[in-house]
Amino acid sequence: YRELKAFPADFLWGASSSAYQVEGAWNEDGKGPSVIDALGYYPPGTSDYTVASDHYHRFAEDVALFAELGLKAYRFSIAWTRIIPDGDGEVNPAGVAFYHRLIDALVAAGITPIATMYHFDLPAALDAKGGWQNRECVDAFAKFAEVIFGEYGDKVKHWLTINEQNMMVLYGEAIGTVKPGQPKSALYQANHHMMLAQAKANLLCHELVPDGLIGPAPNIALCYPETCHPLDVLAADDFNAIRNWLYLDMAVEGRYNSVAWAYLEETGAAPQIAQGDLELLASVRPDFIAFNYYATHTVARPRSDGQDVATGGDQQIAVGEKGIYAGASNPFLPHTEFGWEIDPIGFRNTFRALWDRYHLPLLVTENGLGAFDKLEDGQVHDSYRIDYLRDHIAQIQLAVSDGVDVMGYCPWSAIDLVSTHQGVSKRYGFIYVRRDEFDLLDLARFKKDSFHWYAKVIATSGADL
Ligand code: BG6
Repeated sequence: YRELKAFPADFLWGASSSAYQVEGAWNEDGKGPSVIDALGYYPPGTSDYTVASDHYHRFAEDVALFAELGLKAYRFSIAWTRIIPDGDGEVNPAGVAFYHRLIDALVAAGITPIATMYHFDLPAALDAKGGWQNRECVDAFAKFAEVIFGEYGDKVKHWLTINEQNMMVLYGEAIGTVKPGQPKSALYQANHHMMLAQAKANLLCHELVPDGLIGPAPNIALCYPETCHPLDVLAADDFNAIRNWLYLDMAVEGRYNSVAWAYLEETGAAPQIAQGDLELLASVRPDFIAFNYYATHTVARPRSDGQDVATGGDQQIAVGEKGIYAGASNPFLPHTEFGWEIDPIGFRNTFRALWDRYHLPLLVTENGLGAFDKLEDGQVHDSYRIDYLRDHIAQIQLAVSDGVDVMGYCPWSAIDLVSTHQGVSKRYGFIYVRRDEFDLLDLARFKKDSFHWYAKVIATSGADL
């Protein structure tokens, strides 16, 4: 038994979403198409994002529900294509006005806005010019950053640069960072440019929003070795270096870590670094680290049988060229109905690893359970989601008691939205949105059981889980 520390009084009890997954109105009020809108292909049985949860038209109702939930913070993303439809041209006043309305509604409700600058939805016009592989994208992002810091900086003090840059690299083809068949060097060149864009945004934020805080928002989940065999431990260390620390060592310390760099060189994937890049990268420091956590990974030493593959779809760091690890499953962890492992203790392990390595405040910007919820008589009995969230929040309190500086918790998602590749039926929200994959029904909102439970958690600042 040990005495646990209470959650800090100013803890940001929040919830999250992203523009393209919740807003809909994909081509309204001057918005340009993003790579998501241009995709035109969705896995069989899943809807597109044209209407999503219709939050664009219903944000006032949604914010009123967030206020009723008691949210202290709401993490949303700004669609670049609403602000600058072609990515680097004219600013679209109607798009700018939408986020003013949303932010004003949040502030009026006493909810701290946390804005992600970019969540997977690159302007299609920039993609046509090579996307992040084209160095010009860095300046386009800096221009976008200047516009949004100038517009919203007096009201938004918490900024996240790029959502899950590491997933954009590790799932490069799925998210459109590279086209099928492009070499891995193209992927890591795009990654390098995103790092530069992030650094420029950091500098601009500190210049234009002097009391603003800005940080990266990768997906960070610790990797375990399958056994205590030293080579399994080494494989897990390699995995952590390439999947996790590569992104944060760069964001925080402005350097490529040596294990990751050696891997990039050995696999012919090292990016070209222009003069001045490393100086720029080393000149910035984020104010905090935001991270998304779903579950840990487990790997084993490579079998060197040509079959070394990764679990969880992280194919880009799976071997092929160089066997650094083999995928493994963790026999101690249960799974969601979508096959994702559930590891609350791994959440604490991840907090501790992040804190030990970087000593920066940590903000959780995603964590949650995707499930096939059922609406019956206006109710959704999602006790499985409550269990998941309770177990994870309990681990945050343990991490806080370990001495980790945790700023807040914004689970995924505030309201039902369209998942990244499994449609609307995979729901995460505290608020149910009545629509099916293809039938939009009436898009009415319903409070799930988890809504009432989380309201109590927030009201008691985590004392009553
Ligand atoms: C994160 C993304 O990777 O995971 C979100 O930032 C996404 O956009 C979330 O929705 C859950 O993943 P999925 O595939 O279940 O939607």
